[in-house]
Amino acid sequence: MTFRRKRTAILISGRGSNMRALVERARDPSYPAEIALVLSSRPDAAGLAFAKENGVACAVVDHKIYAGREEFERSMQVLLELHRIELICLAGFMRILTPWFIGQWPERLLNIHPALLPAYRGLNTHERALADGVKIHGCTVHFVEPAMDEGPIIAQAAVAVLDSDTPDSLAARVLAEEHAIYPAALARLAEGRLRVQGNRVFTSNPATEPVPSRVPLKG
Ligand code: GRF
Repeated sequence: MTFRRKRTAILISGRGSNMRALVERARDPSYPAEIALVLSSRPDAAGLAFAKENGVACAVVDHKIYAGREEFERSMQVLLELHRIELICLAGFMRILTPWFIGQWPERLLNIHPALLPAYRGLNTHERALADGVKIHGCTVHFVEPAMDEGPIIAQAAVAVLDSDTPDSLAARVLAEEHAIYPAALARLAEGRLRVQGNRVFTSNPATEPVPSRVPLKG
């Protein structure tokens, strides 16, 4: 069977720990996606150093120098096409994307969100979960749609909220799950095994790379 890895771009704005998890997973030549570009909206994004050190092509499209969102996105689009990108993973990318850009990448644009969507869209998810007193929290990988943090869900992982949790401790446990489910979800997409019907995402064939959905309910 011929096998061609899907050329994938990761869009970041900051720390880039999810980008790192994806780059590390894609080192395995049998992984179905290769990370062909890391694109940052900020020149000072900490994640760029890791990408450079690891020989991944990097680009910066500094949103601050553009008059508007569309100009910024058109520059990104040119770069993505230049690098023959097929799939995109948003990983801590802090710009809201227009319907135009999202429309260029139907079922090829993923995001990771640090909450169990549709709960806690937006920012400060861990603080808000603690303030609400929920006992289960987690993270979600989903296809991107024009409304913020919306789109068909590909994978989720849950963690128990502990009595001792602070926003930081909860964030750290959720982040560990993000690093597990994002590479697994990208693999499913790159292998062409996802089918979207309405809000639901179905996976064909038994998973070669199971998407974890652990709920460690000890505490
Ligand atoms: C992650 O928590 C991700 O879920 C959210 O932004 C954060 C990015 O962290 N979208 P990192 O840059 O991947 O470390």
